[in-house]
Amino acid sequence: MTIPATQHARPLSAAELQPQLPLVSVRDLKVAYGGGPLVLDGVDLDLFPGEMVALLGSSGSGKSTLMKSLTGFAPISGGSARVGGYDLTNLRRGQLRDVRASVGQVFQQFNLVGRLSVLTNVLTGALHEAGPINVVGGFSTAHRKRALELLDRVGIAHKAKEPARSLSGGQQQRVAIARALMQRPKLILADEPVASLDPKMSRSVLELLHAIARDDGIPVLVSLHVMPLALEHSDRIVGLRHGEMLVSAPTSQLDAAALDVVYQHDDEEGEGVVDDLA
Ligand SMILES: Nc1ncnc2c1ncn2[C@@H]1O[C@H](COP(=O)(O)OP(=O)(O)OP(=O)(O)O)[C@@H](O)[C@H]1O
Ligand SMILES: [Mg+2]
Repeated sequence: MTIPATQHARPLSAAELQPQLPLVSVRDLKVAYGGGPLVLDGVDLDLFPGEMVALLGSSGSGKSTLMKSLTGFAPISGGSARVGGYDLTNLRRGQLRDVRASVGQVFQQFNLVGRLSVLTNVLTGALHEAGPINVVGGFSTAHRKRALELLDRVGIAHKAKEPARSLSGGQQQRVAIARALMQRPKLILADEPVASLDPKMSRSVLELLHAIARDDGIPVLVSLHVMPLALEHSDRIVGLRHGEMLVSAPTSQLDAAALDVVYQHDDEEGEGVVDDLA
């Protein structure tokens, strides 16, 4: 086939020649724990730099499992999962550690060390690059400077010396986000990061995560139990039900009615009650 010469009238820009590649690429993913039934079945997911993708689904639908499969904590029994050039189904020695070091994680319960200072908690995000050091005294001046800058960015530099346990839930989640950024992550996975926070705090933490995705170009995958929060704070939504992906679309094309399919029949099955109360 010959291509008409007119198509070559203008030289292509570098961006056109190199379309943005997804940082995460999951195809037909299947996961089963310990030879049991499939808890993920045929999931496809791309995460591009700069976007925040919300993961919706009732309890047990496989949200955490999908995140765990991106860090080698869930047994992949079929399909493929690639993160930043690594094939999770075929990692060479040492690569799993590299994958985990490149993924910043944020959890519902913050997972801070309560008796340690806020600053030290953030510094632990750099442990993988600092090597075997004394956690309390051994970080470099450059690390400390960066940790303080990150605390400033998330709005709690004034709490740097306080023990982490003395902070409110919303503040602790900001510390956890600063710790994740300290890792210089290529990807952030946030598993129900606002489930323990009041609505106002929830919004501000999700706004922060969305700003990080946009400004730093780090894709953020965030699981949520509250549908309106997903509609407000994401670029795309992926909806799981019983391990199957029933929705995957730009948020601008979705509304509550379109997402209903993710929660359908839950009441009859005794699930979804928590979602309705949320
Ligand atoms: N380590 C495990 N061993 C066996 N089964 C597991 C394990 N972890 C999860 N499962 C099962 O996998 C399914 C999906 O669980 P998962 O935790 O991924 O759901 P979820 O959508 O994150 O739920 P929630 O909203 O309650 O956090 C569930 O049926 C669960 O019981
Ligand atoms: Mg979960």
